[in-house]
Amino acid sequence: MEKTTVKSPANIAFIKYWGKKDKDLRLPLNNSISMNLSGAFSLTTVEFSPDFKRDEIEMVGEEIGEKEKERIIEHLDRVRKMARVDFKARVKTKNNFPKGTGIASSASGFSALSLAASRAAGLKLSLKEVSVLARLGSGSACRSVPDGFVEWEKGNSNSSSYAYSLYPPGYWNLADLVILVSAQAKKVGSTEGHSMIKSSPFTQVRIDTVGQRLKKIKKALREKDFTLLGETIEAEALNMHAVMMTSQPPLFYWSPKTLELMLAIRAWREEGLEGYFTLDAGPTVHLICQKKDVRKMKKELSSIKGLLGVIVNYPSLGARVVKDHLF
Ligand code: PMV
Repeated sequence: MEKTTVKSPANIAFIKYWGKKDKDLRLPLNNSISMNLSGAFSLTTVEFSPDFKRDEIEMVGEEIGEKEKERIIEHLDRVRKMARVDFKARVKTKNNFPKGTGIASSASGFSALSLAASRAAGLKLSLKEVSVLARLGSGSACRSVPDGFVEWEKGNSNSSSYAYSLYPPGYWNLADLVILVSAQAKKVGSTEGHSMIKSSPFTQVRIDTVGQRLKKIKKALREKDFTLLGETIEAEALNMHAVMMTSQPPLFYWSPKTLELMLAIRAWREEGLEGYFTLDAGPTVHLICQKKDVRKMKKELSSIKGLLGVIVNYPSLGARVVKDHLF
């Protein structure tokens, strides 16, 4: 049993995953498309050993709640079952960004855990199988496994719902400036949020129209049409948040700073600096722009008061085994 460490990126969805058709298998209502992020990642080391009396889970610099611990142990159980191993494990993980603020720590975390634990248990899974495994831990994690620009095929069974690479990271010089506006963990996590989708009267509209936006994103990627990409990304984020805000009870993830940034990004665009926003389940704003404009965007952002930080990301590889262990 070999100790294994994996580095996995977080990802930002251009077309979002919001709502499941199968809760236990985490099968999504629609296909989604994302880009892996070079500057926001998890590092996870896993070791299985007959010497360990119980599973030990540690997150560097962060308290880990009982529920979260259980979810990780459940994932280890999946791997143990697949590998026919019954040793306990030691897991240590480190994120380079604050969790619960709209950067998907569950995505990078479960992607890293899936590859690290399967290798540490002696399994040699294919990329597709690692993506399927990661999805069972957290839906969006399946998109952090393959490289670059990724599509998650919704599928209709466990083995047919997984993500694959559409284009490698070097395909297009895009950037995602992650603008941190709050370090507080969100009140309603995405797992609970997904299950509330049925209570919004706008969900049907979302289901009826998401296919058109998916096609537009694919065309924009194929033709490297940044304006089409950006306009569709923004429309998609607003569509998902309209569903969230009209759920019962309403899920309101924005803070006043979130809205201030969204309006500023639109104003800069009108003045000729082309950038678009997207948001996940949190107040963090993702500013999508072209690499050539990153410096100008950072300058504009420096004029906005009260921001906690900006993480500059470029498209990145997916999950990879690395040499340096955390223990
Ligand atoms: O994988 P989950 O359950 O954390 O869901 C992620 C949902 C969003 O981040 C809001 C959208 C997405 O596709 O990443």
